[in-house]
Amino acid sequence: MDIIGGSASSTIAHEVSQILHTHLVKTEIKRFPDGELYLRITENIKDRDIALIQTTSPDENIIELFLLLDAVKRAGAKTRTVVIPYFGYARQDKQFKEGEPISAQALATLISSNATTVITIDPHKEHILDFFTVPAQSISAVPLLSEHLKDKHIDVVLAPDKGALDRAQKASEILHCDVDYLEKTRIDGSTIKITPKSLDVKQKNVAIIDDIISTGGTMAAAIKQLKTQHASKVYVSCTHGLFAGTAIKKLQDAGCDEIIATDTIASLFSTVKTAPIIAKELTTLSR
Ligand code: R5P
Repeated sequence: MDIIGGSASSTIAHEVSQILHTHLVKTEIKRFPDGELYLRITENIKDRDIALIQTTSPDENIIELFLLLDAVKRAGAKTRTVVIPYFGYARQDKQFKEGEPISAQALATLISSNATTVITIDPHKEHILDFFTVPAQSISAVPLLSEHLKDKHIDVVLAPDKGALDRAQKASEILHCDVDYLEKTRIDGSTIKITPKSLDVKQKNVAIIDDIISTGGTMAAAIKQLKTQHASKVYVSCTHGLFAGTAIKKLQDAGCDEIIATDTIASLFSTVKTAPIIAKELTTLSR
């Protein structure tokens, strides 16, 4: 299997190709003066199995994925596995209000038109995999995040809401510690209310684990709860660190001791590498 990396995931693609001792296909990607994207696969990939790795956020990376995928198909690749480290738009996974699109499905439908298989990491909800019309599966970065937390002497893993409890539970099993969750209500895009709840966190090290940090509102509210209840150190960890706007400042102001994210979205905090789990999944797939 050969690897192609889109601009959003070129480092991951390089690392995956190194782990698998496989070829990283060369591409030319540039912009026309008017801002439109130009790209070209500059090697012969006819009849090759291709894994195309590209996070679909922000929007320009979605266009790039579509164009790359079209180019891969036209170049005659035998199979086209699309690896989406962070699947943007996954949170609009239903019509919350009349007149809205189901964005996750709209993207999945378009990707499926040229992909033969899809792999993504920790999608917001697993049911979005059903939106793809080709085989689609997810892999979990929770074991990687948990490994990273191992030397922090975590006493409790906390889910910021009930929906994130599965991930927290998985981490607590790896870290051999307690698990709990908070009751969260989203007032609007950036306002979060956490209902006070008595937690056994006094003088304890706590890791909060979630799939996404976007505005940081959820995590900041959770950290504040924990600090009010005299937690010792509070680590926040997520698979996808979007860190929109002033998210980092919010987390720091709330009293966070460390921010840990994977590299599905590159940032100063994306210390946990996902290439090993992607490489493992691609190996399983090509057997
Ligand atoms: C929502 O259910 C997700 O799991 C995250 O909790 C949410 O996307 C985080 O967003 P924010 O950082 O804006 O609170």
